[in-house]
Amino acid sequence: MNLFDVYPVNPINIVRGQGSLVYDNHDTEYLDMYGGHAVISIGHTHPHYVKRLEDQLHQLGFYSNSIEIPIQKELAQKLGKVSGKDDYQLFMCNSGAEANENALKLASFYNGKKKVIAFTKAFHGRTSLAVAVTDNPKIVAPINETDNVIFLPWADEAALAQTFVNQGHEISSVIIEGIQGVGGIQVAPQSFLQKIRSLCDEHNAVFIADSVQCGYGRTGKFFSQDFAAVNADIYSMAKGMGNGFPVGGIIIAPKIQPAYGMLGTTFGGNHLACAAGLAVLEVMEQDNLMQNAAAIGEYLIKELKKLEQVKEVRGRGLMIGIELPEELSNVRKELLFKHHIFTGEAKPNVVRLLPALNLTKAHADRFLEAFVNVLNQ
Ligand SMILES: Cc1ncc(COP(=O)(O)O)c(C=O)c1O
Repeated sequence: MNLFDVYPVNPINIVRGQGSLVYDNHDTEYLDMYGGHAVISIGHTHPHYVKRLEDQLHQLGFYSNSIEIPIQKELAQKLGKVSGKDDYQLFMCNSGAEANENALKLASFYNGKKKVIAFTKAFHGRTSLAVAVTDNPKIVAPINETDNVIFLPWADEAALAQTFVNQGHEISSVIIEGIQGVGGIQVAPQSFLQKIRSLCDEHNAVFIADSVQCGYGRTGKFFSQDFAAVNADIYSMAKGMGNGFPVGGIIIAPKIQPAYGMLGTTFGGNHLACAAGLAVLEVMEQDNLMQNAAAIGEYLIKELKKLEQVKEVRGRGLMIGIELPEELSNVRKELLFKHHIFTGEAKPNVVRLLPALNLTKAHADRFLEAFVNVLNQ
């Protein structure tokens, strides 16, 4: 049997990793400034993470949501504490798309309305509703097309306000990434997030903060929307939540009440997933990873802004976009094949940095040195 060939892959076989370093089958070392697409939050094979998963696996890997799962409650407690959203409620699933799917559906259950506001260049996942609010017609199948989604220009407060004036009674939710990832590392202006909050309050709409990529401490605060000092009604999470173990979830404001059967999943919140989630939060807390992400991110951004070949540097903490002119379209390949450094990409010609939150200054310098070298060759 062949694989269903949907991924353009690099001819590299990574077989092991430690911290921000990974190694291929020839034992060549690579610096991971990509974190397997923002997934590796506490570093590859962190000893505490390995031990917690190993111990849990010896106890019990899985049992369904039909029984009490105390480790789920433990995770919810810890997440409430680390994120500062103690009074929210946790529902667990398995991926970012699934988290957004549940968020959009829950919003509609809550206010009985159908329309969703999403923004240009948004990426929210590939399941039915998540892809419908994603601004990329190439990945929307005919069956996912719907009239319930209104796309508005990014950060356009007037367009947002006008849409609420015209259709407020129909709008169930507004979904926004605090920092657009796939869209090229675009930071949502604080005033825009505040406007979403006030319009949602005024019109009984639900504010959904897609924090799948920009959340979980990556920006130096737990949720990037926290910079605007507003609370969303639902935050969706995945990626860094399990450091590679597939875990997703939503946290839900107290005003949204649950009912049996409203949401559900077979695998979501299983014992192993919770052990992975707890290990991540424990390491984040013990090793002050949010502070590290803020400090190393600030350092990287400051140094990158000094480079004259760079068009623009955007982002916060360890979610950084480096926009380059078109003629420098080979930079990522050079970094990978000459300097053995993984980075991410976004259009147009944006190098995306999404490393582990415990990236060291030495590794940041190794990246900067290689990057300058590639720009100057
Ligand atoms: C902002 C955002 N939302 C949702 C998703 C979808 O997550 P998943 O691939 O886990 O379904 C992604 C994935 O890249 C994302 O970046």
